Amino acid sequence: MIDLTDRHCRYLHRQMSRHTLLYTEMVVAAALVRGGALRLLDHDPSEHPVAVQLGGSEPEELAAAARICAGHGYREINLNVGCPSDRVQSGCFGAVLMRDPALVGDCLAAMREAAAGAEVTVKCRIGVDDQVPQEVLPAFLETVRGAGIRRVIVHARKAWLKGLSPKENREIPPLDYPLVLSMKQAFPDLTIVINGGISSLTTARELLDQGLDGVMIGRAAYHDPGEILLPADRLMFASAAADRSPEAVVAAMRPYIARHLAIGGRLGAITRHMLGLFAGRPGARSWRRSLSEAGSRPDAGLDALDRALEEILAAA
Ligand SMILES: Cc1cc2nc3c(=O)[nH]c(=O)nc-3n(C[C@H](O)[C@H](O)[C@H](O)COP(=O)(O)O)c2cc1C
Repeated sequence: MIDLTDRHCRYLHRQMSRHTLLYTEMVVAAALVRGGALRLLDHDPSEHPVAVQLGGSEPEELAAAARICAGHGYREINLNVGCPSDRVQSGCFGAVLMRDPALVGDCLAAMREAAAGAEVTVKCRIGVDDQVPQEVLPAFLETVRGAGIRRVIVHARKAWLKGLSPKENREIPPLDYPLVLSMKQAFPDLTIVINGGISSLTTARELLDQGLDGVMIGRAAYHDPGEILLPADRLMFASAAADRSPEAVVAAMRPYIARHLAIGGRLGAITRHMLGLFAGRPGARSWRRSLSEAGSRPDAGLDALDRALEEILAAA
């Protein structure tokens, strides 16, 4: 998720769940290939399993970008066919590509060939604008399967390319889980992961029980990690280990934050992702306030984190 799942966020999320598959923000292929912005691929080895997501629509450029990603150690490379923002449309990629499955197929085939050793996957919508999802989605899946793709993530709502903001496009078009479920029946050989509006592991489990292969959770995982990420290993991956507590996560982040501060990084770059850590607990509000205030100070150090933690412990 752009502006959210940067490397610090992913490192934090990995402290909460060992097995959950994490995704980078969307990286524009041209920024890697033409702009040389390789730092966008920086990550800590402990983030794995982590997939990188690319945005683009030129097969050769995407192939070159996929090769670079594989060289940086990513073992899954995902193509974005779901983002509706204007910025993305003008570059002709994201959800607008739902209108051109043949081009998507060419892009995916080129990426697969270039990035041998990494799995190429795609994330799509169920359609855009006035398209009929019952017709468009199966045709899209048929095409990407023909390009050798075996795993697809479906955001189970349309995107409206004109008239809705990106935020509205994540809320207003209605969700259609039954359609995605029916795709699993129509394409049993594809691994189909559902996304959109899932805010509890109970719902995630129900969707898996109904036959889907995976569940992707975006906003709820970010804003309420205590509900989603901390119990995920136990509830979704049958791990026998006890859930980590938010306090233990803070302790696990300390050495990472210290290393970041030592090379001149700002506390807030990491702690901005930790604001939701104690959501629902007494003192959660003062934790957020205290950490946001410290995060906005360029010279804030670990003592600010410790103080915020003391406050939450005192409120318990
Ligand atoms: C701030 C923000 C940034 C996002 N950036 C991306 C992105 O870069 N790539 C992508 O595929 N989806 C992106 N999304 C969409 C989410 O991945 C997801 O499809 C959507 O939020 C619906 O799932 P959810 O209800 O679990 O959040 C973004 C969502 C948000 C809120």
